[in-house]
Amino acid sequence: MASRTEASRDVELERLNAELLKQNLTPTWAYYTSLITPQPKVSYAPYLWKWEVLLHYLRRAGELVDLERGAERRSFELVNPALRHIMGTTHTIGAAVQLVKPGEVAPAHRHLANAIRFIVKGRGSYTAVQGEPLYMEERDLILTPSWTWHDHGNETTEPIIWVDALDYPFNQLMQVSFFNAYPEARHPFTKPLGYTANWMGFARPTWETYAEPVPLATYRWTETARALQYLQGSEGSPFDGILLEYVNPFRQGPVLPTMACYAQLLRPGEHTRAHRHTSSAICFVLDGAGYSVLNGERFNWAPGDLFMIPPWYWHEHVNTAAEESRFFVISDKPIYDTFNLSREEAYAENGHQQRVEKTFTPMLLSGA
Ligand SMILES: [Fe+2]
Ligand SMILES: [Fe+2]
Repeated sequence: MASRTEASRDVELERLNAELLKQNLTPTWAYYTSLITPQPKVSYAPYLWKWEVLLHYLRRAGELVDLERGAERRSFELVNPALRHIMGTTHTIGAAVQLVKPGEVAPAHRHLANAIRFIVKGRGSYTAVQGEPLYMEERDLILTPSWTWHDHGNETTEPIIWVDALDYPFNQLMQVSFFNAYPEARHPFTKPLGYTANWMGFARPTWETYAEPVPLATYRWTETARALQYLQGSEGSPFDGILLEYVNPFRQGPVLPTMACYAQLLRPGEHTRAHRHTSSAICFVLDGAGYSVLNGERFNWAPGDLFMIPPWYWHEHVNTAAEESRFFVISDKPIYDTFNLSREEAYAENGHQQRVEKTFTPMLLSGA
């Protein structure tokens, strides 16, 4: 008799659950385990883009996409197959490669999204940020902080290629995508060449208020490379090798509120210990050769390749080259730090993932 009562109660409960859903009410007692899980459930897998493929399509876009005919930028986004709905490389950051041909000037604009630019090939072109021209050399890092006017031009005779990374997927999540086109064809140069780096240094005029939340800056590769070289004999980190963070010179913190940038060096034969953390990262391979293991999958990389590490994925890097391998890395760690969401774990046992079950197969041109 009692079991029959229980059975009928179960039927009633099922009915209640179904009715609640129709009323746009979700019974927590039935769905709790999908809301709060013991470990993060990450919705996307790692991915790697080969440089030869990126370069091939940049060249084709160079023939067909015309800035004069309304294209805002000649670039394409590196979209993780599981993140097409937000056009994200990771769930917070969108990376793109961009080509600017000789004589081209891109229209000035501003957006609430923060951006960084890392120069891959070519020199002597400028990015102007808030009226300050910043001339770019290969592997320099340029910041375009949130809501700063920026444009760029190539006054040289050679094309220039760079990697852009913006926090627009995060902005979309926060529903704060704002964008303005500058009313004139170009934003005027209102500051002299070298204004921030050479004229102002670490001081700023008190009577000016700054729209930008961080000092404008070019981070010269010559200086970063020198620092990496200087430190390469030191112990570094067992998980990252020699990892340098580009810092905001006034606050010591990350270069932007949402994105941190790093230069990473792996010494010949170096095999880092596996770890995982809640933040995601995009690695741009500068030189060397080797592979990374991400949750048991091997990703072989070479110069120019870009790969990303989703949150809470075990990762270790192996340098198989006879010389150093170097990466430029962009991470969303500042977001996690701000909201006390940063967590990190070291891989146990001997520090390396025991099972490498498969090797990632990159999309190559023959398959295009
Ligand atoms: Fe922009
Ligand atoms: Fe890491």
